[in-house]
Order: sequence, then structure tokens, then C-alpha cells
Amino acid sequence: MIKVLFVCLGNICRSPMAEGVFKKQVEDADLTDQIECDSAGIIGYHAGELPDKRMRRTASSHGITLTHHSRQLSPADFEKFDYILGMDENNMKAIRQMEKSVTNKKAKVFKMREFDEQESSKDVEDPYYQGDDGFEICYQVLRTSTQNFLDFIVEENS
Ligand code: 4NP
Repeated sequence: MIKVLFVCLGNICRSPMAEGVFKKQVEDADLTDQIECDSAGIIGYHAGELPDKRMRRTASSHGITLTHHSRQLSPADFEKFDYILGMDENNMKAIRQMEKSVTNKKAKVFKMREFDEQESSKDVEDPYYQGDDGFEICYQVLRTSTQNFLDFIVEENS
């Protein structure tokens, strides 16, 4: 089983959306018996909460139900997951910092938009303080990047 973890700051907007979109793409590709995913946050402030209502609404308008409950990233995640993907540069710094403390690291770490060939150096911007447009844009950005990431891991693991 290939295990994928999406990470953002609060684990209530971007990473649960990435998880939901990716899960659907994995289902559509008939790969649910080979690939599983989860998401986590750099901070534990929202631990236990469902994703932000605005993100759930956006997801649901695209046929995706977000049921993840927020949790904080932990060093053990680097031993359990094969791939860890951060959404922005600040997430990447925090992920890299935690990674240093893990001795039996398995995970390969990437920034999500490395898989967006148009905008590979950009962040998946945080929609938390934005209007509804920000949530829809976030979905669109994630859909492209997660699909390309799926193609990448299928190729890498075949
Ligand atoms: P996320 O968005 O990192 O995409 O889940 C945020 C949600 C909450 C906060 C920051 C970002 N916050 O500071 O509470």
C-alpha cells in the first residue's frame, strides 16, 4: 500500500481538500487497493474539527464530501507515510524541520505545486482569510496538482 499525507497549516482547509480530491482521483483510477491518503496540520489548534464550512461547501459542489477530522503532524508520520506533501513554503520549512528529528524516515517530501507544470514554484494559497472565490481557486489548483502527483506515483511505483 502506498501511503500519502497532505499537510497545511491548520488542517481544516487546503490539506483536507487535497485529501478529498486525491481520494476521488484514486477511486476513478481504480487504485483504492493500492493507494491511501490522509492529511495533517503543522499546528494542532483545530484538532478534532471537521474542515472549514466554506471548504466543505466548495468540495460538495464538486461531488466531494470532506469527513476528515483535523490532527497535528507528528514525527511518526515520516515513518508511516511514503509521501508527504506541503501546501506552501512555510509548511515546507516546518515539515523539513520536523523531518530532521526522525531517524527511521521513509517519506519523500514534496511541495504540492511541484506537480503543477504551469506554476511549479508557487504555493497553494491559504483561502482561510479570503472570500468564496479563494476556496474555488484552491480546489482548482489542487485538482491539477493532485492528478499530476497521482500520475507521478503510478509511474514511480510501477
Ligand atoms: P489551512 O488554513 O492551513 O489551509 O487549513 C488555515 C486554517 C486555520 C488557520 C490558518 C490556516 N488558523 O490560523 O487558525
